[in-house]
Amino acid sequence: MKRFPYKLKSLLVALICLPNALTAIADNGHNLWLNDSDRHTSPQVSITGKRNDSPTLRIAENELKRIGWEGATTFDTGKRDMPEGAYSIMRTGGGATTISASSPIGVLYAVYELDRMMRCQQDILNINVKESPAYRYRVLNHWDNPDGTIERGYAGFSIWKWDELPDVVSPRYEEYARACASVGINASVLNNVNAKPIILSDEYLSKIKVIADQFRPYGVKVFLSVNFASPKVLGGLATADPFDKEVKAWWKAKAKEIYSLIPDFGGFLVKANSEGEAGPCDYGRTHVDGANMLADALRPHGGIVMWRAFVYAPSSPDRVMQAYDEFKPFDGKFKDNVIIQVKNGPIDFQPREPFSPLFGSMPKTNLMVEFQITQEYLGASNHLCYLAPLFKETLDADTHRMPAKSTIKEITASNDRLSAIAGVANIGDDPNWCGHLFAQSNWYAFGRLAWNPDMKADEIAAEWLKLTLSADPAFVSPMTHLMMESREAVVNYMMPMGLHHIFARDHHYGPAPWFEMPDMRRDWTATYYHQADADGIGFDRTMATGSGATSQYAEPIRLMFENKATCPDKYLLWFHHVAWTDKTQNGLTLWEDICRHYDKGLQQARQFQIAWDKMRPYVDSEKFAHVGDKLKIQTHDAQWWKDACLLYFQSINHLPFPDDMERPV
Ligand code: GCU
Repeated sequence: MKRFPYKLKSLLVALICLPNALTAIADNGHNLWLNDSDRHTSPQVSITGKRNDSPTLRIAENELKRIGWEGATTFDTGKRDMPEGAYSIMRTGGGATTISASSPIGVLYAVYELDRMMRCQQDILNINVKESPAYRYRVLNHWDNPDGTIERGYAGFSIWKWDELPDVVSPRYEEYARACASVGINASVLNNVNAKPIILSDEYLSKIKVIADQFRPYGVKVFLSVNFASPKVLGGLATADPFDKEVKAWWKAKAKEIYSLIPDFGGFLVKANSEGEAGPCDYGRTHVDGANMLADALRPHGGIVMWRAFVYAPSSPDRVMQAYDEFKPFDGKFKDNVIIQVKNGPIDFQPREPFSPLFGSMPKTNLMVEFQITQEYLGASNHLCYLAPLFKETLDADTHRMPAKSTIKEITASNDRLSAIAGVANIGDDPNWCGHLFAQSNWYAFGRLAWNPDMKADEIAAEWLKLTLSADPAFVSPMTHLMMESREAVVNYMMPMGLHHIFARDHHYGPAPWFEMPDMRRDWTATYYHQADADGIGFDRTMATGSGATSQYAEPIRLMFENKATCPDKYLLWFHHVAWTDKTQNGLTLWEDICRHYDKGLQQARQFQIAWDKMRPYVDSEKFAHVGDKLKIQTHDAQWWKDACLLYFQSINHLPFPDDMERPV
């Protein structure tokens, strides 16, 4: 009697696992969240409105069959009053479905929405959905180089096979475009912001044309990062001065050539006068001069310029202040087909940064947020770190710069002007695309938030889990919880309480708070950022006694950051140099609080392993082992971070560890 229930349980577990195990053989994580169903049906699709021969509509029809949709379905692309990509879906009790949009891509997006609804087990009997994208351009920035490597890429080599193109067309190009379209991403910058001039050569443009042809039916526009010195290096001109007639003519001719090959080409992304890249300042010109010159070249073809504000120089008294100081005076001077691309925080994609003060400070300029989906500073593809909470922290931040609508999402997603949002991609040629299975969720979440920044991070996590792994509530609930905690855990074991940039140099993976070198730029050392001494730790950025970076924020945020007592603990050491023995908002001494954060991060990583181990019944064995192995690395690294940082800081302050804390080893 006693043994029977146990056997029954095993049998049930085996039955639950079997379908997962079968998909594993075919899948390997390659299908992303688009698990192909085998329920191919034949809905009767009728098409009204223009362009019924569109390849996009043919794809939509095939996708509808793939997902197992049933009943009479109408695609109506005659809705003129809807923005590009927007759609509505109406399904009546009788089973007839009407999908309306102003163009075919809206229909395709609607079909992916139906797929999501079905597989997330939402009510599909009576559907009445209206959707419209918040941002006009929802962009992935690939930092892929012509030699196939990826800067800050942790998932293998580039998926663009330059040496095979244009003759060999990898199936991955279409698979990629389909995955992007399924979450509404509609733009892809193919190459690294540290751009090589060769990308604009005839040879490369003929390859890029082939990729663009693959993307087109999925509504994904191709963009290129361009090197500002291209007219010199590629065109053989004596200068790249944006005021030079020949230079202007060169860019105009280049734009014309690109559009003759790729009529829907999106435009250029530019990193200029930043980290050694060429730019207009090399010729005594400004960012405005450079960006507007390129904007003029692209304007006749409908292209745009995404000009980055990621600038910092060793001469700057405080690196976090430079972008604001340099760009704010240009407000209102950029052409209307230029958009300034601003990293979410004022330094560089750290585990946590306050938002960049540029948001809201340039009301007469198009401004877009740049996130980093690839985890350069968050454990690469080894750490499970769900980034939607980080993205939301920025998008929901209130700049207090406008009388109403002053959150970053409201400012940047304004309908009245050019709007865009970008994420540095985490995609490579690894079988599962992103290196870590859970890193796929960050690509997914970026797309979903670019479409609708009001979505909640946990809602997106649950969606992704259901689509990718299992819709069983016993799986979705604890895993959503784990994902939602994961970014905070990384902050805890790497850089809690406003600490930043204490990474080992170059690879940005492990800890090196001790890092400094004689004769090195001090803004490339770790000690510059934490400023630990016998008395305390943290970067004083107050107006009263420090660099004055707090002055770049609007009231009441400025005052909140300026005042040690009101500055949130999570930003404390970003804005203040605090005595080790001062009390934090938790009532602990600063040193105790720092110790507790590091220790908590390590405990969280261990808990993730325990939680994952219980998920064996819901996930196929290959994926189960893959994630489990990665979690081992993560826990090991969390311990490494905690021990390295605490032992180093202790060597400076000579204070004991709290009695009840697990000792660093
Ligand atoms: C970081 C990153 C670089 C990158 C740069 C950028 O500094 O480490 O690899 O080129 O950001 O965003 O331009």
